[in-house]
Amino acid sequence: GHLRHVESMATLPSGAGKISHLNAVILGESLASEEDDLVFPSQEFTSQALVSSPEQYMSMYKRSIEDPAGFWSDIASKFYWEVKWGEKVFSENMDIRKGTVNIEWFKGGRTNICYNALDRHIQAGNGGQIAIYWEGNEPGQDGNLTYSQLLEKVCQLANYLRDIGVRKGDAVAIYLPMLAELPIAMLACARIGAVHSVVFAGFSAESLAQRIIDCKPKVIITCNAVRRGSKIIYLKDIVDSALVESSKNGTSVDVCLTCENQSAMNRESTKWQEGRDFWWQDIIPKYSTVSTIEWVDAEDPLFLLYTSGSTGKPKGVLHTTGGYMIYTATTFKYAFDYKPTDIYWCTADCGWITGHSYVTYGPLLNGATVVVYEGAPNYPDSGRCWDIVDKYKVTIFYTAPTLIRSLMRDGDEFVTRYSRKSLRVLGSVGEPINPSAWRWFYNVIGGARSPISDTWWQTETGGFMITPLPGAWPQKPGSATFPFFGVQPVIVDEKGTEIEGECSGYLCVKNSWPGAFRTLYGDHERYETTYFKPFPGYYFTGDGCSRDKDGYHWLTGRVDDVINVSGHRIGTAEVESALVSHPKCAEAAVVGVEHEVKGQGLYAFVTLVEGEPYSEELRKSLVLAVRNQIGAFAAPDKVHWAPGLPKTRSGKIMRRILRKIASRQLDELGDTSTLADPGVVEQLIALNDC
Ligand code: WT7
Repeated sequence: GHLRHVESMATLPSGAGKISHLNAVILGESLASEEDDLVFPSQEFTSQALVSSPEQYMSMYKRSIEDPAGFWSDIASKFYWEVKWGEKVFSENMDIRKGTVNIEWFKGGRTNICYNALDRHIQAGNGGQIAIYWEGNEPGQDGNLTYSQLLEKVCQLANYLRDIGVRKGDAVAIYLPMLAELPIAMLACARIGAVHSVVFAGFSAESLAQRIIDCKPKVIITCNAVRRGSKIIYLKDIVDSALVESSKNGTSVDVCLTCENQSAMNRESTKWQEGRDFWWQDIIPKYSTVSTIEWVDAEDPLFLLYTSGSTGKPKGVLHTTGGYMIYTATTFKYAFDYKPTDIYWCTADCGWITGHSYVTYGPLLNGATVVVYEGAPNYPDSGRCWDIVDKYKVTIFYTAPTLIRSLMRDGDEFVTRYSRKSLRVLGSVGEPINPSAWRWFYNVIGGARSPISDTWWQTETGGFMITPLPGAWPQKPGSATFPFFGVQPVIVDEKGTEIEGECSGYLCVKNSWPGAFRTLYGDHERYETTYFKPFPGYYFTGDGCSRDKDGYHWLTGRVDDVINVSGHRIGTAEVESALVSHPKCAEAAVVGVEHEVKGQGLYAFVTLVEGEPYSEELRKSLVLAVRNQIGAFAAPDKVHWAPGLPKTRSGKIMRRILRKIASRQLDELGDTSTLADPGVVEQLIALNDC
């Protein structure tokens, strides 16, 4: 019933102007090729949708491209600006050949994202609405905050931070699990103009130290411990080690504000350093619940978020205030067809960009009610997500393909046990969603009622770039469909030449959009080299992409040395350097292999130092080295002993060959004659199962 075929598709508008990548759609004779299954939003859905037809999308999109200044300033005017932006809505140079890359939006405007996310709604009379439903790891453990209550908590923390000397432009590190205190801490920083640097609480002490050393925060905000599923993670211990490590490096952090998370650990058993460590619960409630606002320039930094690249050193992605605010709010609204009656739940952690843009800022800027879940999605069993959906009557559910696949494997009974009838929009993010997982998500979770927004974007882009608008387009399972307003994706070949129509190649973006990152913290040169030099004139995403004859976009994964494991971004170089730090490891090469649940898994080829025998114990200690240096989520799935690695005569490791060996595509090894020692390949194949 819900899958209909092409014949029934209405004729699309033609002559909507020359927007090259959409020409196929606009001018195409029929929308879809015969073999594609299209999934149409229901009449019921489109009739209430913010954007309800391809025509409506096209006219809005066309304006956003032809008149970006007008399009975005109309939207920005609906927000509060203490001082309006200057004459130019935006200025940019994304063409490296013309000098330094520089992007600015709403420059000269003074605003505050915390004010827009909280005070603005309260002033409009919505202070009594729930901002956050907090759900703990244990069923039955919960709490909630109205917009007014959330603001009070944010103000108290903001006043404290000011009191201990945190000023506009200072960095604040946040290492917290999904407690309400995490968005509270982010918003408190934003309120006083401090730059938050949230570190995902699954990162190890070494990774945390590395980030602290890079951004030199005055204070770190954490909690003593957290329960995730049946495990307890002692976060304060990790912070303690990180602070020892960073001070050895000359970066000392004066204050460690620690939230007591009683359900995981009491304060008596928490290790404590007098004078540096303070309990949140003892101090913060003493501060006033009102606080002044630091009006900041639209281009003042809002936050830093470290992400992996193709070298060992994580990159501090820097986002500024005004453009990010307008972009996250607008993408949230349209991609999820947000209405004030919605209850929204995104399963991402605030330690990643998804949690920044679509747990905290995007939803709160829209005055939405957000579910924040502390625990593991399959605890106490695989039905927990639907238990939460029913409990809070969640209408918009946004998650990652890896979770969908793992729940799919556990069987439909965990799903069908719950009603889920509140759901009306679903979302997916982090990696390409395979059509079978898409269909299960659509049919089983969503009861074939709710469109899926498969949102393609990156830490660097701030917000959605290619995404369905759920009421506008028929969907093709596995395609992220079309660009968001103001975004001009282009596909280029190796030489950087734009290719049109049905094609595949490297995905780039032409011209800036408000949510774009502005630099890599402390390393503008690396920003230019990584993102703007590979294909001059464009922002290079690092992803491969194909476009079908109807103009739909199909993301095909990273084309650089970055791997998406369960939607977590990991640089192979980081894992390699962790392995090589092990005294018994001489050399390591890590590649991604297809993984049933994680999407991609990490497969490590390891050469031991001369004379060292292979053993299970050694394998474990190598994996442990990665857990300790990066975090458990980066642990290799497989260690393949390698007496030698396939290298060219100039010494470059041929990863192409390693990928084939890892995925057992031995008949596709290709030309191995350029190897310095072609015999290495035979050896590797022979050692496959050790
Ligand atoms: C990389 C960015 C942005 C939120 C989470 C990840 C991959 C992300 C999709 C999608 C196909 C996707 C890309 C991208 N990716 N969403 N819907 N379809 N691929 O953020 O850690 O910065 O990773 O995730 O490869 O480059 P991130």
